[in-house]
Amino acid sequence: MEQKNLAIITYGCQMNEYDSEMVAGVLQAQGGYRLIDDLEQAQVILLNTCSIREKAEQKVFSELGRLKQLKHKNPDLIIGVGGCIAQREGYRIMERSPQVDLVFGTRNIKLLPQLLAEVINKKAKIVNTEPLLEDINPTYIERKGKVKAWISIMQGCNNFCAYCVVPYTRGPQQSRPSWQIEQEVKDLAQQGFKEITLLGQNVNSYGQDLNGEIDFPDLLALLNQVEGIERIRFVTSHPKDFSERLIKAMAELPKVCESIHLPVQSGSNYIMERMNRKYRIEDYVDKVEQLRTRLPQAGITSDIIVGFPGEREEDFCQTEELIRTIEYDNIFLFKYSARPETPAASFPGQVNENIKQERFNRILSLQKSITFEKNQSLEGSVQEILVEGGSKKNPERLTGRTRNNKIVNVDGSDSLIGKKVMIKIVRAKLYSLEGQLLN
Ligand code: SAH
Ligand code: SF4
Ligand code: F3S
Repeated sequence: MEQKNLAIITYGCQMNEYDSEMVAGVLQAQGGYRLIDDLEQAQVILLNTCSIREKAEQKVFSELGRLKQLKHKNPDLIIGVGGCIAQREGYRIMERSPQVDLVFGTRNIKLLPQLLAEVINKKAKIVNTEPLLEDINPTYIERKGKVKAWISIMQGCNNFCAYCVVPYTRGPQQSRPSWQIEQEVKDLAQQGFKEITLLGQNVNSYGQDLNGEIDFPDLLALLNQVEGIERIRFVTSHPKDFSERLIKAMAELPKVCESIHLPVQSGSNYIMERMNRKYRIEDYVDKVEQLRTRLPQAGITSDIIVGFPGEREEDFCQTEELIRTIEYDNIFLFKYSARPETPAASFPGQVNENIKQERFNRILSLQKSITFEKNQSLEGSVQEILVEGGSKKNPERLTGRTRNNKIVNVDGSDSLIGKKVMIKIVRAKLYSLEGQLLN
């Protein structure tokens, strides 16, 4: 069978990155496709979309505008849209962008070979976003790297934070059976992968839908035993389910890295309640303290939303205060974006754009100084990094991460890729560190 060229454009979170690896895997194994980068050479272009904020959606529609031109030049080009926008909008995507031939969902990627064959052979337009809930075991995955791999341990989310579309785009929480995950990790170890990152919208509630057979700390203990895997990471942790048991697991399991993404969203209990986050700031601070007592070197990052409906100056100041108290290694900062269907979109007290921008800027500069100071405090220290590959900016240099997830660039030979090495931190930058290899 003649191979067809497939290009995939991915937006959004790690979950989407992983899903795109699955799209590539399934279509190579069962559809006769070859993955390429050059859109001009592609016979099929698939967009794996994100709908978390309005801007993320706009990006996709402007890309679809560019692809329309491409389809003008090459009328046989097939354009497909999947991911979170597709799941929510379905056929409305085709109404808005008639150049789209196929719309597929976040939970039916396995159907793609069949769906694309129909589109091509019958010259049909297809919308199928029906989730396949019975079997969530991903089959073929064409991974991007050779050292680090993503692994989805669960689908969906049951939390319904008032601002968030994810429960609507990814459906209810569904944990993968632990033996499937373990098998996937063993396969990865055999293929030479050294680091895995377990993915879920809220990994701390892993297993809650599996009749209490296993919880997240147990899963970590299980995977810690897989020979060949050297580092284990996970995202994202919801603070309400972040437990002492997990802190203990992080402290006791040697492969689990001292790094956690624990999104707080805001520093105000009033906003927390309106967001439906189900924890109080005091408890959050308390948990972080417990973690730091057991693991003083732990890297801690967070997500912050400014300008959530009803956010008063005093609430915002509490967020600033919290950031000063915790001293995150880094944060991902967002301006609240009203999403259709979510409760917060119709809350009173929507904050105007100027105030959002002003609050955004204030937090950004505060966090920048904290991040930089934290990085500077590492100058002169010796750290273990796992070498991942060539650095983004300069492929001649190597890049890796410390156990607590700081990016380090260092001179060295390609033969070190996939190895753990000791380096001395010689200079701190804002978002990375410069290191020197130690023998
Ligand atoms: N499941 C993860 C995060 C998923 S979305 C968790 O609960 O932490 C990633 C981040 O996007 C969220 O943590 C939040 O900070 C941000 N986000 C989600 N919806 C948003 C919205 N409507 N406007 C602005 N930021 C949003
Ligand atoms: Fe969205 Fe909240 Fe679920 Fe995270 S936990 S995906 S923010 S609803
Ligand atoms: Fe975006 Fe969907 Fe991820 S909305 S952030 S791609 S779960």
